[in-house]
Amino acid sequence: MFITDRTEHIDRPRRNRRTEAIRRLVRETEVTPRNLVMPLFVKEGVGSREAISSMPGMARLSRDLAAEECRALERMGITSVALFPAISDEKKDSKASESANPNGLLPDTIKAIKDACSDICVITDVALDPYSSDGHDGLVKDGNILNDETLPLLSEMAVMQARAGADIVAPSDMMDGRVGYIRQALDESGKTETGILAYSVKYASAFYGPFRDALDSAPKSGDKKTYQMDPANVREAIREVDLDIVEGADMVMVKPALAYLDVIAAVKSTVTIPVAAYNVSGEYALVKAAAEKGWIDAERGRDEMLVAIKRAGADIILSYFAKEFAQGY
Ligand code: PBG
Repeated sequence: MFITDRTEHIDRPRRNRRTEAIRRLVRETEVTPRNLVMPLFVKEGVGSREAISSMPGMARLSRDLAAEECRALERMGITSVALFPAISDEKKDSKASESANPNGLLPDTIKAIKDACSDICVITDVALDPYSSDGHDGLVKDGNILNDETLPLLSEMAVMQARAGADIVAPSDMMDGRVGYIRQALDESGKTETGILAYSVKYASAFYGPFRDALDSAPKSGDKKTYQMDPANVREAIREVDLDIVEGADMVMVKPALAYLDVIAAVKSTVTIPVAAYNVSGEYALVKAAAEKGWIDAERGRDEMLVAIKRAGADIILSYFAKEFAQGY
């Protein structure tokens, strides 16, 4: 049969793309500010904002400005933030002692934020790297990252954060057994209502580069491959997720997001708790840098990235684009 005989019956998917109104009507996936979490880098001082050169548009903020930023985010419909403290070198040591200090930068910032906007959901990172002179997420001995010796430090840190007002603690360290250990410590401290967002599936990725710049937290020696996952593995991701759920995770996360959309989809199909994905610093920097060179349209690149992560199955997206996305929403 010739094609001309069939033109009246031909399937025409283009009809559903003809106008913007129709395209909006049939759109399957939509990113909304409601599902976005804005990561904030915080620092000591008052009224102080320090631009991060590898992450155009992002800055380290002192606690007063961080609180102000949270109020602005709330007005735009973003009701969750993830905090990352930039700790000065003289406070870093091999035991990451500052990580559990109840009068440190992070707890003070949580309190300032909660005083300014009590409804915002504050998520805090649990890992030693910002506090460690070794720049690793766990304790280091003779070049090895100690697992079980690290667990008590992580749980002290999580309990301190919960007491300071964190709603959700997010272990990003990838030590085995840490979710169960932290859950038990929180419960024993009466913090049964503090949630755990587990960075269950965190890959040893080149895309964390700008983040490590922002916190000056790169490993001083070696790499993170003995605890963060091999980018080649997806079945192992399911193993990690299963373990964290059994240990008490309330939400699980895949990180990075963009190069791991298949992993997000695989995790989504096996769990019944919310799935988060972290659109990491390197992914943000790729878009910003290419846009600065005039090679891509930053806004369209951003929106395409976010919708892809959502389409893959992420219920929650942590992204440095959160604020600017919400501004244009
Ligand atoms: C620390 C931590 C990292 C990120 C979040 N928490 C860096 C790392 O593991 O080296 C990366 C986030 C980003 O790149 O945006 N454990």
